[in-house]
Amino acid sequence: MCGIVAYIGQRDAYPVVLKGLKRLEYRGYDSAGVAILNHGLHVYKKKGKVAQLEDFLTGKNMQSHIAIGHTRWATHGEPCDRNSHPHVSGDGKLAMIHNGIIENYALLKQELLNKGHQFESDTDTEVLIHFIEEIRNSNQCAVEEALRIALKRVVGAYVIVIVDEDNPDTLIAARKGSPLVIGVGKGEHFLASDASPIVEYTKEVVYVNDYEIAIVKADELILKNITNERQTPYIQKLDIELTAIEKGGFDHFMLKEIFEQPQTIFDSLRGRLDAKNGQLTLGGIREYTDVLANARRVIIVACGTSWHAGLVAEYMIEELCRVPVEVEYASEFRYRNPVVGPGDVIIAVSQSGETADTLVAMESAKAQGAIILGVCNVVGSSIARLSHAGVYTHAGPEIGVASTKAFTAQLAVLCLIGLKVAIEKGSISQQRFQHLLDELQDIPEKVGLALKLNEQIKQVAQKYKDARDFLYLGRGYNFPVALEGALKLKEISYIHAEGYPAAEMKHGPIALVDEQLPVVFVATRDSFYEKIVSNIQEIKARKGKVIAIVTEGDQIIPAMADDVIQVPEADELVSPIISVIPLQLLAYHIGVSKGYDVDKPRNLAKSVTVE
Ligand code: F6R
Repeated sequence: MCGIVAYIGQRDAYPVVLKGLKRLEYRGYDSAGVAILNHGLHVYKKKGKVAQLEDFLTGKNMQSHIAIGHTRWATHGEPCDRNSHPHVSGDGKLAMIHNGIIENYALLKQELLNKGHQFESDTDTEVLIHFIEEIRNSNQCAVEEALRIALKRVVGAYVIVIVDEDNPDTLIAARKGSPLVIGVGKGEHFLASDASPIVEYTKEVVYVNDYEIAIVKADELILKNITNERQTPYIQKLDIELTAIEKGGFDHFMLKEIFEQPQTIFDSLRGRLDAKNGQLTLGGIREYTDVLANARRVIIVACGTSWHAGLVAEYMIEELCRVPVEVEYASEFRYRNPVVGPGDVIIAVSQSGETADTLVAMESAKAQGAIILGVCNVVGSSIARLSHAGVYTHAGPEIGVASTKAFTAQLAVLCLIGLKVAIEKGSISQQRFQHLLDELQDIPEKVGLALKLNEQIKQVAQKYKDARDFLYLGRGYNFPVALEGALKLKEISYIHAEGYPAAEMKHGPIALVDEQLPVVFVATRDSFYEKIVSNIQEIKARKGKVIAIVTEGDQIIPAMADDVIQVPEADELVSPIISVIPLQLLAYHIGVSKGYDVDKPRNLAKSVTVE
């Protein structure tokens, strides 16, 4: 949520920052801006996507060895030029970019207004840079010192980067609660919200920790904590390649990521699943499988698509491990004063590893004595670091705002966790264990087969793209898949869609059904098959249009559905990894056929770092 990027070094800084902003645009795209130093500070900002800023700056002299840039997802103040970042101090000498929220900005603003400060924007960010300026002036100290004093009073989450006209060889950055990566090059440094703007220049990075301040020069990186003690920067090697963050011939990142799934699921299983020898290794949680097996309760906290993965995991873990599982919206869990403590195991599921609601839920459960395990995609992310232990999903960078490959990798990893605990606990037979290992092993290939349905699904999308509403129904393991299908459609086609347990439909939503309403049934062959066939008949009896996702070879449902999509057969425990594929493609093609930017749906941003 909001992307920040900055550069200092021998290169021309503006092109580096501009390219970085394009890579980070998935984090927010309602406005963008840059600041450079070239005989003084110059700040340029524009409402709209980064391309609009680029057009606006074409032909301008942007030469500078230092630059900061920002792509915004509005929190305080509508998207407009005035509210875009960077924001500047009253004397026009300091410019700042910010990702996060300053919660006590109103109080600080009032204090500053009383002292005569004037503000041009509605943002909390402008308040913070004025606050730093005020401290610098009244204490006659350096910006670094003023920043340190200011941050002690700031409540909220931030990554900020400041450029100072009077100190043109230094960038100053600070982090609390939002991500900041510093790329270390030869005589140059790159700062960004994630590694994607950095990877083409250097593989050496430092992940800045909460409450750290970075003083960054072209050839020097100094890290200090908030009490001014030097910290040793811990340089890590990036393990992503440039190709992972480029479209690679696909029209959209979303489509590329959907099609990557046979590989990403394989990657999430690699080195862990050895079906041939009946082995499963999960080094990340080796010391916690016992704790999980004997947990009083497992509580899965997550948001959005990751929450849907958590719902599937509830079915998996309860069935395999016979441990009670609850799945909580992280935002609700944290604030309803939940009963949680020693004996409980929290599993936080997150693609980005930076989702503020999930982080806060974890922090509060940890403080009350629960064990925290993380299932994250982004290595080194805040959620990964806050967890006692965890398992990475290894799906690679997910850039399309609507989550696809992260979801299937989460399902694969959560299934591995359930199986590992079950076999150690003895709550699964050796035979069923081996069967499920074999099933998991076959999943990448079956997902590949499901992707071959792309053209057929494109035609189904054409047929239904003008519908006003959609209903998605499923039972058992396929109920969360129905929720996920509805979420995907809403996000990228702006069509209202609801997911429901198929049986629950008759307790209310059936009132919506008429000949205009497409109802997507996720009805693969599982223990609920006969029941869902009855639900399909109930919809047909009311003239609803049925699009059914069924198992290959099904003879019964095709006879009653309007459109049928046949996916490869799989054990019901792992079937969601396959049955979600047509729903991702359906949403994609409907969104594209309506002319929308499916990679950057309106109002959304990836990595929701505000509560
Ligand atoms: C949906 C989507 C969001 C995220 C949610 C959680 O397509 O992308 O609903 O799933 O914001 O994000 P993470 O998984 O990064 O915690």
